[in-house]
Amino acid sequence: MAWVNAQLIDGKAVAARVRAEVKAEVDRLKYEHGLTPGLAVVRVGEDPASKVYVNGKKKAAEEVGFRSWELHPDEGISQAALLEVIHQLNADPAVHGILVQLPLPKHIDPDVIISAVKPEKDVDGFHPLNAGNLLLGRSTTRACTPYGVMRLLEEIGCDPAGKRAVVVGRSNIVGKPMALMLLQKNATVTICHSKSDLRREVEGADILVVAVGGAELVKGAWIKPGAVVIDVGMNRKPDGKLVGDVEFAAAAERASFITPVPGGVGPMTIAMLMRNTLDAAVRYGLVPVVR
Ligand code: GUN
Repeated sequence: MAWVNAQLIDGKAVAARVRAEVKAEVDRLKYEHGLTPGLAVVRVGEDPASKVYVNGKKKAAEEVGFRSWELHPDEGISQAALLEVIHQLNADPAVHGILVQLPLPKHIDPDVIISAVKPEKDVDGFHPLNAGNLLLGRSTTRACTPYGVMRLLEEIGCDPAGKRAVVVGRSNIVGKPMALMLLQKNATVTICHSKSDLRREVEGADILVVAVGGAELVKGAWIKPGAVVIDVGMNRKPDGKLVGDVEFAAAAERASFITPVPGGVGPMTIAMLMRNTLDAAVRYGLVPVVR
């Protein structure tokens, strides 16, 4: 019998569940401890995609019951002045989570800004201390998108242990932390990049996570029958159609599970940001860190 079409992984529904879990915990935190988690989002300049993402983050924060602030310095802000903004948020006890939306304007070094965020308020999981703790297999704040992918795998009952996991893309935001999270769950992990023999690696994947930003770069014919396919990509084609990094229809004929684009991984990023902010508030809002 030919492989039946893959089951869709409904990221939108899972994300709604995660946000509902967070909201219930926020309600309890407010009632029992009088503590309201606070999230500050910093958006520099007028990048149109960043505006959409940040609006989504603010809306979700309000829905789960956080206090939220958007700081919106203009494109021309100096690195020193932006650092001053971060320092003020670091010092503000009402702010438990700080997120600096990327990309930043060219004259600002993102590494300097990310490193300036207090690690305990770094709800993106991008600070070197949090990224390093993930590398060491210690409990830490995890980058939201790969953390969301791990939740999706859990939801479909996919245990990575002993499986071949192939991660396409080696960004600090998705690819590298994704590979480490899969390794922590005992997958055998391969990271692919522009110099890899992509087809050969993809053909061996039981779990495939693609995050490169190339429209339909991974062909459906390369997918191992029965594989779990997670598409982190989001690309606008010249005809206006939104597509992922995987050729969806052809891949869905071979995969056991696949994420749609949109409605797959995308909504999970924001949901896990809510989870990270709540966890930061519980960890450092209830018991202030003494330094
Ligand atoms: N730009 C694209 N993705 C992200 C993300 O997850 N966090 C931040 N801060 N900026 C991004």
